Amino acid sequence: MKLSFKQLLVLVLVSGLISCKDQKPDSSESKSALERNLVVDLTDMGIEIQPTMYGIFFEDINFAADGGLYAEMIKNRSFEFTLPKTGWVEPNSDRHSYNNESGILSVIKYSGEGTNHNFARVEVKNDEGYVLINEGFRGMGVKEGAQYDFSVNAAKRSGDIQKIKLQVIDSLDNVLGETSISPDSDSWKTYESTFEVSKTEMKAKVKITFEGEGEIDLDMISLFPQDTWKGRKKGLRKDLVQLLDDLNPGFLRFPGGCIVEGRTLARRYQWKKTVGDIEDREILVNRWNTEFAHRPTPDYYQSFGLGFFEYFQLSEDMGAEPLPILGCGIACQFNTGELVPMDELGPYVQDALDLIEFANGDTNTPWGQVRADMGHPEPFNMKYIGIGNEQWGPVYIERYKVFEQAIKSKYPEIIIVSGSGPFPEGDYFEYGWEQLKQMNAEIVDEHYYKPPEWFRENADRYDSYDRNGPKVFAGEYAAQTVAIASPENKNNWESALSEAAFMTGLERNAEVVHLTSYAPLMAHADGWQWTPDMIWFNNLESFGTPNYQVQKMYSTNPGTDLLKITEDGDKIIGKDGLYASAVKDENTNELIIKVVNTSEQSQNLSVEIAGGSVNDNVTVLTMGMDDLEAENSFEEPMKISPKEGTASVNGNVLEAEIPSMTFSIYKISM
Ligand code: AHR
Repeated sequence: MKLSFKQLLVLVLVSGLISCKDQKPDSSESKSALERNLVVDLTDMGIEIQPTMYGIFFEDINFAADGGLYAEMIKNRSFEFTLPKTGWVEPNSDRHSYNNESGILSVIKYSGEGTNHNFARVEVKNDEGYVLINEGFRGMGVKEGAQYDFSVNAAKRSGDIQKIKLQVIDSLDNVLGETSISPDSDSWKTYESTFEVSKTEMKAKVKITFEGEGEIDLDMISLFPQDTWKGRKKGLRKDLVQLLDDLNPGFLRFPGGCIVEGRTLARRYQWKKTVGDIEDREILVNRWNTEFAHRPTPDYYQSFGLGFFEYFQLSEDMGAEPLPILGCGIACQFNTGELVPMDELGPYVQDALDLIEFANGDTNTPWGQVRADMGHPEPFNMKYIGIGNEQWGPVYIERYKVFEQAIKSKYPEIIIVSGSGPFPEGDYFEYGWEQLKQMNAEIVDEHYYKPPEWFRENADRYDSYDRNGPKVFAGEYAAQTVAIASPENKNNWESALSEAAFMTGLERNAEVVHLTSYAPLMAHADGWQWTPDMIWFNNLESFGTPNYQVQKMYSTNPGTDLLKITEDGDKIIGKDGLYASAVKDENTNELIIKVVNTSEQSQNLSVEIAGGSVNDNVTVLTMGMDDLEAENSFEEPMKISPKEGTASVNGNVLEAEIPSMTFSIYKISM
């Protein structure tokens, strides 16, 4: 029986509802502290923690790019959406009248060279009456005293429109800031102006009016805050990038996720259409717009203002390895699963080869030249490329082989990431791994969206993985408190604590696990499709969830070399709710011990440090809450976040109490 994505989702939702019910971290009858005697061995195991161990998965889902990271405030700035007036309102116009007291905007759709074929023709019949409003992405966030850059392409056609006035207004039509430009040409010309906003408002709109009457053509109507990440013009939202940068990410995976594949092949992500002049980047409907009937977002498109160049630049800014994932001629198998015939795969493979040239090629190569023209003559030094997202079955393997052959023959140094499908077990997974292993694949991507209990019970997942086989990229994972992608899922403390417990297993298996990332990354509070998500934002503010804080505790304390930590000679993988892993950091000369207590009892730790000596100076970071349902929020963004404390080492024994339902990191100088 074939199941559609929706049927599959319902099945998963229902089974998730059953399996997630009443699952809570271990609780014991007695609440008295447990005594635990652990041993950390400082002897070098010869296993490095890869610098890529903790990274970021970015996908344009939940308004993460347009309406999120990409700071453009005008929605549908070039009138290219399928319904080309989406986002725009003319309160005083009626398309069934001549609008003699106002005017009207018509969308002109021309054919010809280039990609974006639409622009707006505004006929102003009475400049006292005509108003054009853009609603932004669920409003626009503006800040008191901040500067904003307005720009527009315009060409006068007839009459004499002397001014285009832009005002930022609140819901009562109060003007919070304004500026104007004076069009002076009947050819296309870009006009720019900067202005200040006098009051903070989360749901502002842009109001455009005119002085003079006549016809004028408009395109690329744009408004950006000046205060972007690194002050780049038309750049990225600073607070959001800061949250990412604070993670000290080892890599940035982009642009997804299912968005890579597209619901149909025609709507797959094509990186070449996302580079070069912003005006020429061909807009595409976002595949998440109507994926979930319970969270429709029909106005969700990709402007690609955040395109592949910007992703590479962002990776560079954060010191993260760029990890692009490309489609492999298979549309999302949860949707249509359209396949490119094998004898027509050439252009897809060429896209991968050209991407490597775009990222790393000399400026005298065609794609290296494109990169240089965009302002980055130096190579981006890309080392990894992913082929396929959540593909499965023989159709994936046969296509993957073609990519692998082509990439390795031209660029043997590039490390290829392959995929094992959407689930962490089962037929698709087993088949994918078996095939990829036979092919000596380098890194295999695994995805798991599972109940919190699964994370607590699978801290030993990688203990049995072949040390000589492909390495693992835990490329998408997150504890689902209700069921996969249920709108009721919460980023609560139970989910984060369970992930923290599981991650001790990732760290302990650093010999096999080389890259990991939580997913999805971001969600707009008014425009999301999928939950849970690591970072939530609205038009003004953002915060990291407890899951973000867990990721950050790991990624800012990654260490460089694995150490062995045991209790009675055994791995510490959840007995009485205790989990632990240990590393040393060659750069800071520290021993770093991560301990998670998911039980309702506090545990008295006595950790013997064998095989070397340490100082008695210990820094402790502890994050915890009695309330497993607790969440961070815009009002209390740091409610669940690590607090610093101290502990002591006496005669090479660390004595510490780890309270119930907490995650602690002990840093001991060596
Ligand atoms: O993270 C959300 C989605 O989950 C990704 O796009 C996809 O790869 C997975 O199914």
